[in-house]
Amino acid sequence: MNEEKKLLYMKHIRKAFPGVLVLDDVDFSVGYGEVHGLMGENGAGKSTLIKILTGIYPSDEGTIEVDGKEVQIQNKYDAASCGISVIYQELSLIPTLTVIENIFLGQELTKGKVFLDRKAMRKRAQELVEKCHFDIDLDAAVENLSVAKQQIVEILKSLLFDAKIIIMDEPTASLNIQESESLFEIIRRLKAQGTSIIYISHRLEEIWNLADRLTVLRDGKVRGVLSKEEIEPAKVVHMMIGKDLQEEDSVVHDPIAGGSVLKIENLSTPELLDKITFEARGGQILGIGGLVGSGRTETLECIYGLRRYTEGKITIDGETVADKAGRVRKQGIGLVPEDRRVQGLVQGLSVADNIALTNYDVMFRTSYITPRKIVETADKCIRQLRIKTPDGMTKCMNLSGGNQQKVVLAKWLERDLKVLLVDEPTVGIDVGSKAEIYGILRSIADQGKVVIVVSSDVEELLKISDRILILVNGKVYDDIPNRGLTADDLLLAASGMSKKEEV
Ligand SMILES: Nc1ncnc2c1ncn2[C@@H]1O[C@H](COP(=O)(O)OP(=O)(O)OP(=O)(O)O)[C@@H](O)[C@H]1O
Ligand SMILES: [Mg+2]
Repeated sequence: MNEEKKLLYMKHIRKAFPGVLVLDDVDFSVGYGEVHGLMGENGAGKSTLIKILTGIYPSDEGTIEVDGKEVQIQNKYDAASCGISVIYQELSLIPTLTVIENIFLGQELTKGKVFLDRKAMRKRAQELVEKCHFDIDLDAAVENLSVAKQQIVEILKSLLFDAKIIIMDEPTASLNIQESESLFEIIRRLKAQGTSIIYISHRLEEIWNLADRLTVLRDGKVRGVLSKEEIEPAKVVHMMIGKDLQEEDSVVHDPIAGGSVLKIENLSTPELLDKITFEARGGQILGIGGLVGSGRTETLECIYGLRRYTEGKITIDGETVADKAGRVRKQGIGLVPEDRRVQGLVQGLSVADNIALTNYDVMFRTSYITPRKIVETADKCIRQLRIKTPDGMTKCMNLSGGNQQKVVLAKWLERDLKVLLVDEPTVGIDVGSKAEIYGILRSIADQGKVVIVVSSDVEELLKISDRILILVNGKVYDDIPNRGLTADDLLLAASGMSKKEEV
């Protein structure tokens, strides 16, 4: 075959961690000005391949060529000098610094040798923000930003440095539709300027729209490299999971009477929420949609006792819900938070310990804590959610992103909850596991429990919710049974401009 020369070649890459062969003789190449998609199940080895390319891990075997020259990439400086820039799946910002400080961290502009040129930095940052149509306050502390905004900071940071290859590991995982669209626009612009992009995503439609070629990994091996014309959903899914995806029948049920009832009345906070009122019934999955900043996460945080509210009442089966998370949990309410890395897991602890941590009270009725029970419980969760890990004793920080998300969910499956609140349940989760998680949420509801799911993924809301509540600017805008609803209906409602208003 007469193949044109590519910008990047990774050849025969092999990488093993104790107990797992993560990459097995992987060949990967990226052309000049090409958007190259990289897909694979959770734990397939995508992030690891990128970490080898950027000098985070050494490979056990294999070579890397950039622009026709073999290179040694042993750290991020080597990567930078090869023109490789990366936005990691787990954001790596400093929470207490401002946006602008984070963007320039390690690449500060200076006057002379020692003085920071703040004016020049601000000017450059503003240009970038304008060029990309991002809505972000350069002086805000990163810790006060939503995950979506933090993602934007990460993108700005990498755009600043004029890279030949920009790697994006699930960049749209926490962006809303407009933000994603503007990112795609940036990607197209970068491509037109000759920059190459490696784009990792679990969302096939993004890959389909953006990628010139796609490499699919499964269990550490390359299962195929497809050109744009060859990218077909069924084929890609088959390559990824090694079989056809069993399409679940629509799991949406009619509301079942009975079960617990969670009532929210006139919930208001000084910042945002304005007399939020709704009821969630056991046996139902209540979806909450709306734009980022519409008050979805805040509502869940108020229910779970993480956020103070100035007015309003929350009751479960007629009993007032406490205002402290520890007590709320005892009342049978659980929360799977939006930001798993900070709120969901203790990274340095094992999978088993993380699961046990929230569950000591239910796992051990007596005062004896047996390691065996902890391990057995973890094994059960690992099987149930197909968590990819050598065993329960592996630290969470060594799990792939999607598998960490599964551990956060697993923590709550052990408890006999009345109410499960889940914020963005499938961010970073591969297609096969998504279907399984939907099945698990449904089975929890089927036990008469209340399940509330906040999601920015409109298709997801439509697939799993019995009823959908739409929040706009901290108010309940609509509360609709999920019958015959379309993505367009939801998007219109979330923007606060549904047909109802026109009348
Ligand atoms: N430092 C490490 N120590 C031990 N095992 C690791 C380490 N880093 C990754 N692994 C293992 O390597 C495998 C591949 O992980 P990787 O993060 O590359 O997956 P991924 O394809 O990016 O998945 P996801 O879609 O969930 O992000 C996983 O099974 C993970 O547990
Ligand atoms: Mg990953």
